[in-house]
Amino acid sequence: MEKKDEGYNKAQVHVLVLPYPNHGHLNPILQFAKRLTSRGLKVTLAPTHYMAKSLHIDAGPVAIDPISDGCDEHGYRNVEGTQAYIERFRTVGSQTLAQLIEKHRHSSNSLCCLVYDPFLPWALDVAQRFGLRCAAFFTQSCCVDAIYYHVHCGQLAIPVTATSIKLPAMPTLQVSELPSLVSKPESYPGVLELLVSQFSNLERVDWVLINTFDDLEDEVVRWMAKIWPCKAIGPTLPSTYLDQTIEGDTNYGITLFDLQNADCMKWLNPKETGSVVYISFGSIAAMVPEQMDELAWGIKGCNYNFLWVVRESEEDKLRNKFKEETQDKGLIVKWCPQLEVLAHPAIGCFVTHCGWNSTLEALSLGVPLVGVPQWTDQPTNAKYVEEVWGVGLRPSVDEKGIVGRIEMEHCIREVMEGERGRDIKRNACKWKMSAKEAMSPGGGSYTNIEEFVTTLSTLAI
Ligand code: UDX
Repeated sequence: MEKKDEGYNKAQVHVLVLPYPNHGHLNPILQFAKRLTSRGLKVTLAPTHYMAKSLHIDAGPVAIDPISDGCDEHGYRNVEGTQAYIERFRTVGSQTLAQLIEKHRHSSNSLCCLVYDPFLPWALDVAQRFGLRCAAFFTQSCCVDAIYYHVHCGQLAIPVTATSIKLPAMPTLQVSELPSLVSKPESYPGVLELLVSQFSNLERVDWVLINTFDDLEDEVVRWMAKIWPCKAIGPTLPSTYLDQTIEGDTNYGITLFDLQNADCMKWLNPKETGSVVYISFGSIAAMVPEQMDELAWGIKGCNYNFLWVVRESEEDKLRNKFKEETQDKGLIVKWCPQLEVLAHPAIGCFVTHCGWNSTLEALSLGVPLVGVPQWTDQPTNAKYVEEVWGVGLRPSVDEKGIVGRIEMEHCIREVMEGERGRDIKRNACKWKMSAKEAMSPGGGSYTNIEEFVTTLSTLAI
């Protein structure tokens, strides 16, 4: 069990954590917050009111004190466009964050640091007005962050006209392997601006924390560290999934539903080791109906047992008879405890959109992947999954960008039982060890978190 260091008066240190309000951003920053409390700091998470009421937040020892983003009733999906939402959050949040800081400063003088999601760069300005130290917490891979930085400083011009790109500290990327917001910015108005604005005031930040680990993105982390005080602090999984026991930690973080007794675990338990294909496309991605259909045929064609997460908003895209036709082989659920599923010995492969959290979770738990990226950072993550880390395959797409049923079936079979599958499984085991080491005493991320806590504690003495 990790011991609290008695050398500093850590109980005096209070850290405020401001997440960007979506599932994939909130979860890793919450898990990081739990790591800070396990080292004796007091931490308060400030989600928006809407996130606080619409998600199950298992915050453990982390206190929750929500703020308004101006969309308390219906959340950001009710605002016309990302840019309009970001503008509203900036205007309202600049005031509500300042009020929150004032409130906590009034009740005790120990609040000394803001950890914020750099999708909300104005938070740095607000916190520095109060003399707080600031840490930007990047939830995506270091490589993807670096690509957005190159756009920010004009080294990667938009629109991208070349067919392939060579950027420092990363392999040559085809345009289709860049984040879709960079390769097709016109498809997502306002979103690239949001990503690029992360760097608008970053030169004033005290720490840049990235949810990755040194071995995984060694070269690009070192490259970033030449520009900012940048540290890898991941993977931010709950400690039990990294074979650790941390006082006060819980197995969950943010979930869309209460999943403490999920039926899918009972379904998985009797299945043979490595016999089940798990399929999930995260919390946001909306698949085109044709892709959903091809995926369904591919899964059926393989004839493996499968567990498929189809969110409520995606259900209509599934062919009516599919559930009936495959009920002896598969279970379809609206949401599941993904970490528990990935850690289950029955899982043989994960068909994923390659969201960064899902990718890191699979790497940390040694699960081979079939990457079917949908948008944003996912094409770049999928490239690394296949070509850099060797932990999965990327099915080819047709001229419409769709992975056909035969290709899908082939890749799943190859990962489950093929020649390449054997290498992929070996690499997956290697990365699992490496992820655990990073978060264990003496490991890179563990040490970086220790240094962060020690610096804050020194400030509070
Ligand atoms: C989004 C982006 O799409 C992603 O690319 C980016 O890196 C972060 O923000 P999301 O699409 O939700 O996130 O994907 P991902 O990053 O993979 O996060 C999904 C999270 O939901 C994971 O932590 C996963 O464990 C969890 N999950 C998913 C469940 O707990 N249960 C499920 O049934 C499905």
